[in-house]
Amino acid sequence: MIACAHSDFSHIVERLKAISNQNSSLLTFHLDSQSDTDADDVVESLETMHNIHKIDVVIANAGSSASYASVLDTPLEALRSDYETNTLGPIKLFKACHGFLIQSSSPKFVLVSSALGSIHAMGREAGPTVSYGSSKAAANFIVKKIHCEHHSIVAFAIHPG
Ligand SMILES: NC(=O)c1ccc[n+]([C@@H]2O[C@H](COP(=O)([O-])OP(=O)(O)OC[C@H]3O[C@@H](n4cnc5c(N)ncnc54)[C@H](OP(=O)(O)O)[C@@H]3O)[C@@H](O)[C@H]2O)c1
Repeated sequence: MIACAHSDFSHIVERLKAISNQNSSLLTFHLDSQSDTDADDVVESLETMHNIHKIDVVIANAGSSASYASVLDTPLEALRSDYETNTLGPIKLFKACHGFLIQSSSPKFVLVSSALGSIHAMGREAGPTVSYGSSKAAANFIVKKIHCEHHSIVAFAIHPG
């Protein structure tokens, strides 16, 4: 199991170890979704330092919501920040991990998205979630594109309950 985070998560390492099975080990890395290089650096470390060349499942879970406002009131900086984490983050992760995923016999790329990113459900999902919702909508598009472009990879978005 490979766990990545942008802040210190040593306090949950024991919980992560508990959910990994007896035959697996846990590797932890720093990965900031806003960085253009962190995902590539993690993959390079896996190859060069841990002799790992295959990943079965990648879960893009990191998410941020920098603002809760209407289109008129949402600061551009909030949009940039949420797009960087919620949209570009999963893209950078997929690009970095693609070579590892295709080595798996059953590769999966999972985006932890949100119903707030659904254009169809916008009428039901109240709230001025402009930066968060639109960044998740763009990420939903990307994961569907991955599904269409990479037939050997199961790629889908989920809304956590
Ligand atoms: N909770 C819900 O009701 C709900 C509903 C729909 C979708 N989601 C989605 O579920 C996922 C998990 O959210 P959550 O509910 O568990 O909330 P959360 O506790 O706020 O989790 C978000 C995680 O993303 C990390 N993160 C934020 N910015 C990052 C960055 N630049 N680089 C790397 N990691 C970053 C956060 O790390 P730090 O805490 O260290 O900053 C945190 O661990 C998110 O994608 C969220 O959009 C949640």
